[in-house]
Amino acid sequence: MAASARATSADPHIPVLLRPLLKAVAPVHGLWLDGTFGAGGYARGLLEAGADRVIGVDRDPSVFRMAQDWAEVYGDRLILVEGTFGNLDSYTDQPLDGVVLDLGVSSMQLDQAERGFSFMNDGPLDMRMGEVGLTAADLVKSLGETELADVLFNYGEERASRRIARAIVKEREVAPIETTRHLARIVEGCLPRPKPGQTHPATRSFQAIRIAVNDEYGQLADGLQAAERALKPGGKLAVVTFHSIEDRMVKRFFQQASGAAGQGSRHAPAQAETEPRFTVLTRKAVGPDQDELDENPRARSAKLRVARRTDAPAKDIDRAALGMPILQSKGSKR
Ligand SMILES: C[S@@+](CC[C@H](N)C(=O)[O-])C[C@H]1O[C@@H](n2cnc3c(N)ncnc32)[C@H](O)[C@@H]1O
Repeated sequence: MAASARATSADPHIPVLLRPLLKAVAPVHGLWLDGTFGAGGYARGLLEAGADRVIGVDRDPSVFRMAQDWAEVYGDRLILVEGTFGNLDSYTDQPLDGVVLDLGVSSMQLDQAERGFSFMNDGPLDMRMGEVGLTAADLVKSLGETELADVLFNYGEERASRRIARAIVKEREVAPIETTRHLARIVEGCLPRPKPGQTHPATRSFQAIRIAVNDEYGQLADGLQAAERALKPGGKLAVVTFHSIEDRMVKRFFQQASGAAGQGSRHAPAQAETEPRFTVLTRKAVGPDQDELDENPRARSAKLRVARRTDAPAKDIDRAALGMPILQSKGSKR
C-alpha cells in the first residue's frame, strides 16, 4: 500500500506550511530529523518527497501511539524517538541533511481537555507536552506575584500582567487553582470583555504559562544550536513559528549565523569577523496562502524560515542577542 503525504479526514492535525516548506528545502534526500513529530505530517511529507530516512522526535509519547497505524508503512525509513529537540544532535551520530521544527502545540494536544492547554475546555491545569516536570497548576501555586507577572509579561506579552498576577495570588489564598476554567475565569475578571473578532482575554496568559511549563524558549535556543552542530555542509534547517517572540529568535539566529547581524548601521559596534555558518534561503518569512487559510484557519500566524548550513565550524550562539525573553523575577522594577 502506498502511503500518502496528504492529510486525510481522520488526521487529527493538519500540517501547517508543509507545501512551501518542501519547496524551500528541495531537493530532499538523505537523513532528516523532524524535531516536532506530532501527527507526523512533516515526517511523512519528507519521506514522500525523497528523504531516505527520517528521525521523528517528540517529547509527547502519546503521539507515537497515534502513529502506529501508518508508521509501519515506512519500515526502517522512519525512526521514532521520545525526547526534546533541544538536544537533537544526540539522537544521531551521522550528519543530517535536514532538520525541521514546527513549534508549539498540536491541534490534538489543544483539543484534549485533559491535557489542560485550552481555556475553552475545562480540564486539569497541566499544559505539559511530555509527562515529566512541573504542571501549570504547580507554577500557578508556587510562583511569587512578581515572578508570575514576569512570566505573563515576558512570555505572553500580556500588558495586564501585574493585575492578573495579583488576582491569581488573591484567589489562591481562597481556593487552589487546579483547572483551566478556574484560571480562565480569573483572567477574564481582570480584562475587558472582548469585542467580536478579538482574541479571548485568556489567550496570552495561557500561552505564557504553557511556554514557561515547557521551557519553550530555552528549547528553541538549544535546538537551533543543536541543529547547527548536527547538519552537514549544505544541510537545511526549516523552522515554523507561531508568534512574534519565536519568530524574532529564529530570525536573529539566522542573521547572526549568516553574518548579517549588525550590518547596515555605521553606528553599530564593529562585529568580530566570523565565517557565515548558514546561508538564509527565505529573505522574508513565508506565511500561508489563501488556499491554506481556507483549509486551516489555525495556520494564520504561522511563519516559515529556512537556511542552509555552510562548512564553517559550529559556534556558540549569543542567546541575549536572539531576543529571548529573560525573566527579571525577584526585585523586578517593572
Ligand atoms: C505543532 S506540532 C507538530 C505537528 C507536525 N509538524 C505535524 O505535521 O503533524 C508540535 C509537536 O512538537 C512537540 N514538541 C514541542 N516542543 C518540543 C520539544 N522541545 N521537543 C520535542 N517535541 C516538542 C509537541 O509535543 C507537538 O507534538
